[in-house]
Amino acid sequence: MSVTWTSREALAIDGGKPVRDKHLPYGHQAIDEDDIAAVVEVLRSDWLTTGPKVNEFEEAFAARVGAKYAVAFSSGTAALHGAAFAAGLKPGDEAVTSPLTFAATANCALYQGARPVFADVCTDTLNLDAEQLVDKITARTKAVLPVAYAGHPADLYPILELAERHRLIVIEDACHALGAEYRGRRTGSIAHMSVFSFHPVKHVTTGEGGMVTTDREDFAAALRRFRNHGISTEARERQIAGQWHYEMVALGYNYRLPDIGCALGISQLRKLDANLAKRRTIAARYTEAFRPMRGLIVPAVRDGVNPAWHLYPLRIDPGKLSADRGRVFKALRAENIGVNVHYIPVHLHPYYRDQLGFKAGDYPVAEAAYERLISLPMFHGMSGRDVDDVIAAVGKISNHYAS
Ligand SMILES: Cc1ncc(COP(=O)(O)O)c(C=O)c1O
Repeated sequence: MSVTWTSREALAIDGGKPVRDKHLPYGHQAIDEDDIAAVVEVLRSDWLTTGPKVNEFEEAFAARVGAKYAVAFSSGTAALHGAAFAAGLKPGDEAVTSPLTFAATANCALYQGARPVFADVCTDTLNLDAEQLVDKITARTKAVLPVAYAGHPADLYPILELAERHRLIVIEDACHALGAEYRGRRTGSIAHMSVFSFHPVKHVTTGEGGMVTTDREDFAAALRRFRNHGISTEARERQIAGQWHYEMVALGYNYRLPDIGCALGISQLRKLDANLAKRRTIAARYTEAFRPMRGLIVPAVRDGVNPAWHLYPLRIDPGKLSADRGRVFKALRAENIGVNVHYIPVHLHPYYRDQLGFKAGDYPVAEAAYERLISLPMFHGMSGRDVDDVIAAVGKISNHYAS
């Protein structure tokens, strides 16, 4: 269906009629009766926390992304912390990441007493730029954390090549990228460790939850210990073996994902392919509609990549519109389109500026992108009508400010 608008139509922000009456969020979970039944079954069982569903979820997840091991955590943030621990990050070390991400990506280095360092992003994908990364590697660098921004995988091959030369561990923050593909390989099977989040706006949700995938047995063992207080065995294993003895061999945390969440995750994972197909259709419709519109820059997709489309980050070209990102954002909200912005560059947060000495101007590509970005609604439960409304609202606003 094609969507039309006229330049005479008053914007809702100026008192006109909004494109839709009801607020459309930028992201939302989709929970069906199978998901509810899976959780209820666990609630009626003997194990609410680390029971059989944890292994079942981990095995299904590892198989889905093509990794040998998957280790579940209580959140994506906890999973990042676990990966930083398994990589051996400690005080005196540095970890390089992208500034255009959620703060948790860089915070995981801080949790381990290491220093986060940023390298600027590529102008097209807004992912960590391998050429910028080269300049940031020092004798102290131990890990690199590329981020699959919006679900477009990072350019991992040149990053892995650099890592091999400098003996670095590559931890991909794949929290946006479950189901993405990079050069025929699945995200989660390429970096030394890959980290996923199951927050409700992600492709698969467990309420709160996360996962680390890896092919390395030593990393998997360290991750399992770390999420369980640094203890060498799990309570259920001890009960089955009829033993009480356990040893704490490292400093760990309680970062366990309960069976309740894992049962939901197993049920959600079954629907991942359908969810991805839906998101890809929405992205294709958006791109087709917005590419010809004045003042808008659609997200780039590099050759050999199949993004997972966690977000649809549209960029405003301020030279071609008589409104800046802030105005367009407010205008879309007034039309009842629940837009968002991903992300305020991490180094510009007061903590990073005041405690770690970063400043505006340090990463010009990420900063310029931030000034232009708007994330449009993107979730697999969107109806065709919802997509039409977003296209109509963006068209109405672009048309208004372009004339
Ligand atoms: C890029 C990125 N990294 C890390 C996280 C942290 O995940 P969680 O919210 O599950 O702790 C998120 C979550 O939004 C994210 O988008």
